[in-house]
Amino acid sequence: MLKIAVLVSGGGTNLQAIMDAIDSGKIRDTQIVSVISNKADAYALERARLHGIAARAVVKKDYPSPEEFHAALTEAIDEAAPDLIVLAGFLLVLPEALVKKYSGRIINIHPSLIPSFCGNGFYGLRVHEAVLKRGVKVTGATVHFVDEGTDTGPIIAQKAVEVKEGDTPEVLQRRVMEEAEWIILPQVIDGIAAGRIKMGGAE
Ligand code: GAR
Repeated sequence: MLKIAVLVSGGGTNLQAIMDAIDSGKIRDTQIVSVISNKADAYALERARLHGIAARAVVKKDYPSPEEFHAALTEAIDEAAPDLIVLAGFLLVLPEALVKKYSGRIINIHPSLIPSFCGNGFYGLRVHEAVLKRGVKVTGATVHFVDEGTDTGPIIAQKAVEVKEGDTPEVLQRRVMEEAEWIILPQVIDGIAAGRIKMGGAE
């Protein structure tokens, strides 16, 4: 059984996709042992609790220094003792020591085709705003292993999505979620659980 901790910051639709895929058997031999948010009011926490999954917030402003916040975040993850950490709409950069500690065992979903529209400052809706501003005709989503950089780790899976005339950032975000994110993230988790995708490197 693959034990996963899911880190979130907001609405949690990717978390929902993972929970649904576990329930329907699309993700096999996997259990979500903890959901951790850096925002106390993230709806993702509610989604987890409604599903009977342990959920908690670890919020930066509750700690006197970044180091103490990082220590609390690391402790929350360690307590859950996951085999794999899944960043599912987690909009903070992980502390380097945490990435090192769980090296090769952290994956992230990013809402573009890396290496386009990624790195510092590219997260959430901002990614889709930048895509529309540049006028590209194809975008998509990427699942990758997390290394010490921002969106620089080995790519595991990508799926392309068409940009359509008249798209707003919100409309495009939803299409990228529906046609790419909610599909490839569960597929990758199942692949890791089944051993088809080896942790610590691409397939
Ligand atoms: C998703 O689009 C995810 O790819 C993105 O934030 C959104 C969270 O939505 N992540 C990043 O931008 C990471 N750099 P959700 O909370 O509904 O899953």
